[in-house]
Amino acid sequence: MTNFELYNPTNYIFGKGQIAKLSELIPANSKILLAYGGGSIFKNGVYDQVKAALSSVEMVEFGGIEPNPRFETLMKAVEIIRNEKINFILAVGGGSVIDGVKFISGAVNFEGDAIEILKKRVLFKDISKVIPFGTVLTLPATGSEMNSGAVVTIEASQEKLTLGGSALFPKFSICDPTVVASLPKRQLENGVVDAFTHVMEQYLTYPHDALLQDRIAESILQTLIEIGPEVVQHPSDYKLASNFMWCATMALNGLIQKGVPSDWATHMIGHELTALYEIDHARTLAIIGPNLYRAMFETKKEKLAQYGERVWNVEGNSIEEKATQAIEKTVEFLHKMGMETKLSNYTTDYEKASDFIVNRFEERGWKAMGEKQNITLEKVRQIVEMSY
Ligand code: NZQ
Ligand code: ZN
Repeated sequence: MTNFELYNPTNYIFGKGQIAKLSELIPANSKILLAYGGGSIFKNGVYDQVKAALSSVEMVEFGGIEPNPRFETLMKAVEIIRNEKINFILAVGGGSVIDGVKFISGAVNFEGDAIEILKKRVLFKDISKVIPFGTVLTLPATGSEMNSGAVVTIEASQEKLTLGGSALFPKFSICDPTVVASLPKRQLENGVVDAFTHVMEQYLTYPHDALLQDRIAESILQTLIEIGPEVVQHPSDYKLASNFMWCATMALNGLIQKGVPSDWATHMIGHELTALYEIDHARTLAIIGPNLYRAMFETKKEKLAQYGERVWNVEGNSIEEKATQAIEKTVEFLHKMGMETKLSNYTTDYEKASDFIVNRFEERGWKAMGEKQNITLEKVRQIVEMSY
């Protein structure tokens, strides 16, 4: 196992009726910005619960944070915070609203042009320089409620870029699984597949000594396989919804990544497909993931075989046979979860993707990705073209 530090200061508050605790969680004398997305919170009762809990708190509302939040929109919130002397932000929504709030939190006191936060991947480490924030999660998927990373799109240049740092953990996150009941089928499917792929990025590398992390990762995968198709059919079932929500948080709250190698190239390529075609984040992962496993078969085959045996109970006479079956099982699962796994299922204009992505990565100097730094630009091209 490699050395690690485990730091996660987010107060994670889970369960039915927990939104009412907001009144105790917001620091005294706060003036807050209530940030939300396109309005789902008005239809599912979450807004009313938040307002009821915060009836005596001074509040400015900022709605309209898009899925794949835009830098240009978020900068409007930054201005409001500066002008209105706001000292706490409450994000109410899915990964996009929470990520947007992480950006806003860091940008308010950022010296210089805030676009540099994204272009230069600024790391926020000084807690005194960011605006503290909490979250009310409405969509289990990204793990953003308990991690310090975020992804923001620059509309003007069609770039989807990451930011983060230890100062950007939420102070608290309220995770009430009853919110799952109002999610559209497409978002339920997306949530399961995003969480599943987060585990794969940190697990599907090569054999190592971190036995417990492997077992935790496998148990999250198994749970998602067990409940994923069911929760799409029965989102108001509390047993299914609560396990779904906890799995999504555990998939990316930092725990399973400690002491192990990780990949993340499926995400890096997937983000470009969203930037280029506005395909939902999870669906880009379903397009790229299996082809990345195929293209990187020699690097990943031992771990693929372990995953096949332990998670899918595949039987085979060789590592290669088990690994191949494991990829097939994964694709079957993605289809069962409502995913299309080819880029041409989403756009007729797919042939420009490989040049676009390879050029982008070259400009950014991303020439060696993956757990062994052997996902070269040629490999990226191959993976993208296999995904057409
Ligand atoms: O905007 P509203 O009206 O709220 O509607 C949203 C949105 O249209 C809707 N929704 C959310 N909760 C709902 C609901 N509709 C009905 N009932 C509810 N309870 O769902 C739609 C999608 O929301 P969004 O927040 O975009 O989805 P998700 O949580 O999947 O977040 C995706 C974003 O997170 C980034 C992705 O790249 C993408 O930008 N990621 C963030 C990560 C992180 N911070 O660690 C890691 C991930 O890998 C990912 O990259
Ligand atoms: Zn993801």
